[in-house]
Amino acid sequence: MGNKVICPGSFDPVTFGHIDIITRASKMFDQVVVGVLNNAAKTPSFTTEERIALLKEATEGLDNVEIVGFDGLLADYAKEQGITAIVKGLRAVSDFEYEFQQALTNKKLNPELETVFLTCNSEFLYLSSSMVKQVAALGGDISSFVPECVHDKILKRLK
Ligand code: PNS
Repeated sequence: MGNKVICPGSFDPVTFGHIDIITRASKMFDQVVVGVLNNAAKTPSFTTEERIALLKEATEGLDNVEIVGFDGLLADYAKEQGITAIVKGLRAVSDFEYEFQQALTNKKLNPELETVFLTCNSEFLYLSSSMVKQVAALGGDISSFVPECVHDKILKRLK
């Protein structure tokens, strides 16, 4: 069966930073599940279905990558799906505290579940979905932030 891992997130919308982590995870592990959080508490700019569709387009060609929506606790979803590790990208030191807190919470909830952090590519250190949304809404160029295949769809929605 091999190692099955999850790259969880909001992906609202997907950026080059996400694609970098997903691509690198797909080379390290046998199966990569990209888990799109379907969180009613947050008000995303893109629906879960839209975020999934954008991710599917942006990861086309990565044969061991599957895009899914998930609800509830990540630790429970991982257990149900036979996932052994969470893979996340770390950008700046400012990410660390929150990520560390999440990793320890998930470990407490599901002791079998590891969290693996990948150092973000220095090119994408500054990049976040909220920055992309802000730049697009104000008419800026987002072509160096999001994959070309989904660029127009993202722009159309956010502008
Ligand atoms: O892209 P984001 O918004 O930083 O992703 C956060 C995400 C989806 C990884 C995190 O919010 C999550 O795992 N949510 C599921 C609910 C959960 O399990 N919470 C408790 C442990 S953090």
